[in-house]
Amino acid sequence: MFINFWYPVCIASELTAKPIRVTILKHDFVVFRDNKGRAAVLSDTCVHRGGSLAGGKTKEDGTVQCPYHGWRFNSEGECTRIPSLGIKAKIPGRARVDSYPVQEKYGLVFAFLGDLPEAERPPILEIDEEGQPGWRSTVVSFDVNYHYERSIENGLDPAHNEYVHTTHGYQGEKEEEYKVNELEPHRNNPWGFGFMHTFDAPPLRHWLMKHFRPSGGKMQAGSGTVGPNHMWTFIHLSEKNFMHQYMFEAPISESKTRVFLVNFRNIGVTKYEFLNKLIDKKVNERNMFIAGQDIVVVNKLKPILTPPSRTKELLMPHDKVILQYRDMLDSFEARGWRIDLDAVNAAHAKGDVIHAIPSPARRTDKGWVLDPVPLVPPQNTMAQAAE
Ligand code: FES
Ligand SMILES: [Fe+2]
Repeated sequence: MFINFWYPVCIASELTAKPIRVTILKHDFVVFRDNKGRAAVLSDTCVHRGGSLAGGKTKEDGTVQCPYHGWRFNSEGECTRIPSLGIKAKIPGRARVDSYPVQEKYGLVFAFLGDLPEAERPPILEIDEEGQPGWRSTVVSFDVNYHYERSIENGLDPAHNEYVHTTHGYQGEKEEEYKVNELEPHRNNPWGFGFMHTFDAPPLRHWLMKHFRPSGGKMQAGSGTVGPNHMWTFIHLSEKNFMHQYMFEAPISESKTRVFLVNFRNIGVTKYEFLNKLIDKKVNERNMFIAGQDIVVVNKLKPILTPPSRTKELLMPHDKVILQYRDMLDSFEARGWRIDLDAVNAAHAKGDVIHAIPSPARRTDKGWVLDPVPLVPPQNTMAQAAE
């Protein structure tokens, strides 16, 4: 798990002034809309004596009020009121919680969970189809009981489709010459990579999907990443019938992940809204059916985290995308962005320490009540220390 990336927090249309508690990177956040309707994401732990802000309520001045002793925090995380001191009291500078940059995009609320200044932040995965005529999108979210890196690796894996999604392929049995074809690089970027490949596919049998691929033939599909937790999957059902899926994943813990799936399609888009809504529902149901096939298998992978040693799996040439992903994660670790989960878990087990994911304000302001989450030291620091 890494700080300094954009994490999906919730579906934008579901967020109101009522605060909700969201767990990402093993830390809790309070999320709410302030009095101007802007989404706010703050560290959930009140710096007074540890109340959970999400258990409180928002006030007409745009603040969220702790349910324990009524301290109010604005969307910048600054405490604006300590009721026990009286109305005119000066608020100490340390009375603040971390507040995270927020963007609403693609129907989701994203928070930048880290302390990088704006110019240095990795981007949110770009969706070219957003706002384009002829394309229509739907958004769903669901939780899975496995680590997000297992989930992303499953999405990248070009060899599982034939076996896990049995309606999609020939199960490698029909054609003796079946193999995974060449992976062509696609959408490589400073924070990730991707590929497209061609494979033989049978006609689709599902009553809805068969309209989009009535006969078999060569099909193109591929996947790629931006950062550790944003992934695209393009499924070209035929020459012109495309599904472009975007997964934004929020690691809750080592064994739990919240997945937000934004599905763009250029198929079944009509001028009749009621028909579009009907197809939206059916496409989402179909996507969840396919996701369910992945979930059955990935749920049972062992160990629950990807092994740190590459000799403890027997990887084949088509697994190179898995290695590319792990190399990318290593590069994030080299920057010093990997959370030290051993240290976090030790603190949680002892139960007397709570950390905060550091926010950008920590780069300029001092005097924070909670310590920042422990990080694996950047490699260049380790190298210097060894000299
Ligand atoms: S713990 Fe939040 S106001 Fe006391
Ligand atoms: Fe899959």
